[in-house]
Amino acid sequence: MRTINWDLEKNELVVIDQRLLPARLKYIPLTSSEAVVDAIREMTVRGAPAIGAAAAFGLVLAAQESKGANVDDLLDDLSVAAKRLKSSRPTAVNLAWAVDRLLGIANKKSTQKDVKQICSDLLAEAQKLADEDIEINKRMAKFGATLINDGDTIIHHCNTGALAVVDWGTAIGAIRTAAEQGKHIRVLVDETRPRLQGSRLTAWELEQYGIPYEIITDNMAGYFLSKGLANKVLFGADRIAANGDVANKIGTYMLALAANDNGVPVYTVAPTSSIDLTIERGDLIPIEERDPQEVLDIQIRGKRVVPAKAKARNPAFDVTPNRLITAIVTENGIIESPYNVNLPKYLNAQSISLREE
Ligand code: MRU
Repeated sequence: MRTINWDLEKNELVVIDQRLLPARLKYIPLTSSEAVVDAIREMTVRGAPAIGAAAAFGLVLAAQESKGANVDDLLDDLSVAAKRLKSSRPTAVNLAWAVDRLLGIANKKSTQKDVKQICSDLLAEAQKLADEDIEINKRMAKFGATLINDGDTIIHHCNTGALAVVDWGTAIGAIRTAAEQGKHIRVLVDETRPRLQGSRLTAWELEQYGIPYEIITDNMAGYFLSKGLANKVLFGADRIAANGDVANKIGTYMLALAANDNGVPVYTVAPTSSIDLTIERGDLIPIEERDPQEVLDIQIRGKRVVPAKAKARNPAFDVTPNRLITAIVTENGIIESPYNVNLPKYLNAQSISLREE
């Protein structure tokens, strides 16, 4: 299963429509950069690395749509499209990272460059980025799996599996790799209100991988942790600040607090493209506020439960302070505190000796 695909014959992006899961596995074409912007905003495509890869192909589509007669016109069109793509969701830094990586290719000075050449360079780079994402996930998963023991019960928040990346997964990727190594693992799947990425997507994925799981409501995590019924907490990240504060799906902070209070280790598993050294601390990370209807549209037995005039708040992410994070697992290794010292070292794979099981 690959969440993000480029159809070479039709010259279009094909993605899994995550809004329809688990009822239906449907691939849909995205044929314009604006369609990619909408798909990211509406969470047809979601998960930090997945939206980064989708946005990269969004820029390819923008190049193909451009009516620019010369390179300068094309670069102007790309700059407008890049702004639109980056603004579609503000918290996950992978989005801006991927768009900037492609812009860098387009802007690379070369005398042989013409409009056609830039279009094909952009497509090649987006494909490279997507392929690398899978390889990065597999490397990260191997590091993550060293932290998982036979018999573990892990609380997992949101969806960090194949659907959230191009393929394999980050935190769920580590759990998959550990399961493949023969470790018996149980996952307590936070349902992850309000969009239910846990009970809809993570549960659906774990079922396919044959990994035992049970869904819990988000407010049950403290109970399981305090009773000793879960011994590890794993989740992904949308942006990691220079000091190791982690922005991730709303509810992560409460989960990490409860885990720390009960001496349970907390691991965030994320590619180095989620690390943003330009942001000093977590409270400076922009937090997306989504439509309150996502909170209000809850139904029980087919009936809406909240009063007709009810109002709601809907921040999509929260920030877990570095003191609550036991380690950050990346494709370059497992990073421990002091994060402000260690994160820069691990950003550059050449500067460290990679340790792998
Ligand atoms: O709003 P979403 O579903 O895009 O949020 C996703 C998350 O918070 C994930 O945990 C995060 O992107 C890591 S995905 C590997």
